[in-house]
Amino acid sequence: MTPARTPLIAGNWKMNTTPAEARRLASDVIHAVGDPAGVDVAVCPPFVSLHAVAEALRGSAIALGAQNLYPAPSGAYTGEISPTMLQNLCRYVIIGHSERRAYFMESDEFINDKVRAALEHGLTPILCVGESLEQREAGRATDILRAQTTAGIAHIDDVAPIVIAYEPVWAIGTGVAATPDDAREGISVIRETIADARGHGAAESVRILYGGSMNPQNVESLLAQPGVDGGLIGGASLNAEQFASLVRAAAQQG
Ligand code: 13P
Repeated sequence: MTPARTPLIAGNWKMNTTPAEARRLASDVIHAVGDPAGVDVAVCPPFVSLHAVAEALRGSAIALGAQNLYPAPSGAYTGEISPTMLQNLCRYVIIGHSERRAYFMESDEFINDKVRAALEHGLTPILCVGESLEQREAGRATDILRAQTTAGIAHIDDVAPIVIAYEPVWAIGTGVAATPDDAREGISVIRETIADARGHGAAESVRILYGGSMNPQNVESLLAQPGVDGGLIGGASLNAEQFASLVRAAAQQG
């Protein structure tokens, strides 16, 4: 029997909003989303806004996430943020986003260090994987997904708490989401990879989200695919009404 996986809709605000704007957006999101039944909801603002947003979210059903961490508890790492700094503030932390892989040269090994550091500190990692357009056109999408997933969960016995986001790079911020078939296919490659590495039961317990130009028009067809357990939302998460309509779509499918 497949254990029920609660869908997750998470907003990745990326490098947007000042603390004052973030506080306002968080309040608007609480208002628009309300108390959704059967779906987990999170917002991931920039580091400097975590405190303001944590205060705004207090007492609401919406959880807080960070967008990154450095995999050491403290030390001489100028400009970095540790899991101990985040652990009492956040529930989630996005790790290995393609923008960090591309612009900050994050390797699979470094990303795995971060996933393990998050888990060791009680944070739920949202591990991002996804192929670029070039890799897809070269017929390498499956290999890339398998490699990034395998490396991301390396040395971790209990993978159940990990959330994975399938974010094809070509769909991020382009307005061109993956087709529902492509999203289902990518996610099934990821789940099979987990099953090969850690067994079927483990694979069935991991939530796998789709991310990349998800919006109120395409959300229903994407979430209707078997194995798609929610969404990691960029642009549409900066608009409280749009974000709330994605949450409602997930609640309806749940
Ligand atoms: P968009 O929804 O803006 O395409 O961004 C997706 C994303 O990168 C979420 O992490």
